[in-house]
Amino acid sequence: MPVGTQGTVKGLSPHEVAEVGSQIILANTYHLMLRPGEHLVAAHGGLQGFSGYQGPFLTDSGGFQVMSLGHLRKIREEGVMFKSHLDGREIELTPERSVQVQQALGADIIMAFDECPPYPAERDYIQRSLQRTARWLERCLEAKTRPDQALFAIVQGGIYPELRDESLALTLPFDTPGFAIGGLAVGEPKEELYPAVAYTAARLPANKPRYLMGVGHPEDLVVGIALGVDMFDCVYPTRTGRFGYALTDQGRLNLKASAARTRMEPVDADCDCYACRNFTQAYIAHLLRAEEMLGPRLLSLHNIRYLHRLVERIRRAIAGGELDSWARSWGEQYFKGSL
Ligand code: GUN
Ligand code: ZN
Repeated sequence: MPVGTQGTVKGLSPHEVAEVGSQIILANTYHLMLRPGEHLVAAHGGLQGFSGYQGPFLTDSGGFQVMSLGHLRKIREEGVMFKSHLDGREIELTPERSVQVQQALGADIIMAFDECPPYPAERDYIQRSLQRTARWLERCLEAKTRPDQALFAIVQGGIYPELRDESLALTLPFDTPGFAIGGLAVGEPKEELYPAVAYTAARLPANKPRYLMGVGHPEDLVVGIALGVDMFDCVYPTRTGRFGYALTDQGRLNLKASAARTRMEPVDADCDCYACRNFTQAYIAHLLRAEEMLGPRLLSLHNIRYLHRLVERIRRAIAGGELDSWARSWGEQYFKGSL
C-alpha cells in the first residue's frame, strides 16, 4: 500500500496511483483529524469523495503517529493526551475516538487503536503496553458501529517471542477479519525485525490477511512474503523518490549523482511505468538539478510501480513453486552493488 498520509500519495494524482497498479491507499487518522478534521472529509462522503481516489483506503488508528509526531503528554488507560504538532492544541485520542474518526473518514479497512512502544524499550514496559493494547482492542470493537468497515487488530510484543505469544493469546480470540504485526520498523536492525516477523506471522491465521505495518523496502517484501505476510505499507518508494533515488533490480540508483547526467537510457528498461517508457535518466537527473517538481513525481511513480512489479514476480514464483531460487537470484543482483 502506498502511503497517502494526508489523503494524497505525495505528488501523484489518484489517476496515476491507479495506473501504477496500486489497489489501496493508506491514510492517517492522526493527520486528518487535526487537519482538515474528519467532519469535512465525511461531508465529501469520506476519503474517496474527498480525494477523488475511487479505490479502497486503509486508515491507521493514530496511536503510532501520536508517538512519532505529537508532543506526547501522557498515556493512560483511558487513552493518549498529546499536543498537536501543527498548532500545539491539546488533544485526547482514545480507542473510542479513534474508531469514531475512522468511521467518519470512511476507509474500507480501519486499524485498532494501539500503542507501539519505541525501540529500544524495557521488556516490562512492552508487556504492560501490549496488555493495554488488547484492552483497547476490545473497546474499539465495542465502539464500532459501521458494518461496512473491516477492523484489523494489531499484535504487539516487540522483538520478544514470549511477549508476541502473550499478545497473540490476547488478540486472536477477537477473530477480527485481519491481523497486523505492529511494533516493528521502529529502528530495530533487520536481524531483529525478520525473526520477529517470522515468529508472529507463523502464528496468525492462514485464512486472514496478515499486515506488516510500516515495512516495505524491496528486500522486506521478498523476505516478508516468504514468511507469510500479505500486506505492507511504507513511505519508502515515494520518500526515496523525492530524494532522487530510483529502485531497480540492481539496487537503488542515485539520479543526483553526476554519472546520471549523461545516461541516455531509462531508469529501468524492463519497467512499464510512464517514467521509464518516456524519459532518459539524463532528463530526470536534469529535472532534479533544476528542482523541477516533475523529477520527484516521476521517481515516485516508478518506485511504486517497481514494488508492485516485484510483488507480481514473487506471486508468479510462488505459483510456479520456485520462490527459493527466484529470491536467491533477485537478491544476488539487488545486493551486488552494496559490497
Ligand atoms: N505503523 C508502524 N507500526 C505501527 C504500529 O505498531 N501500530 C500502528 N498503529 N501503526 C504502525
Ligand atoms: Zn519505471
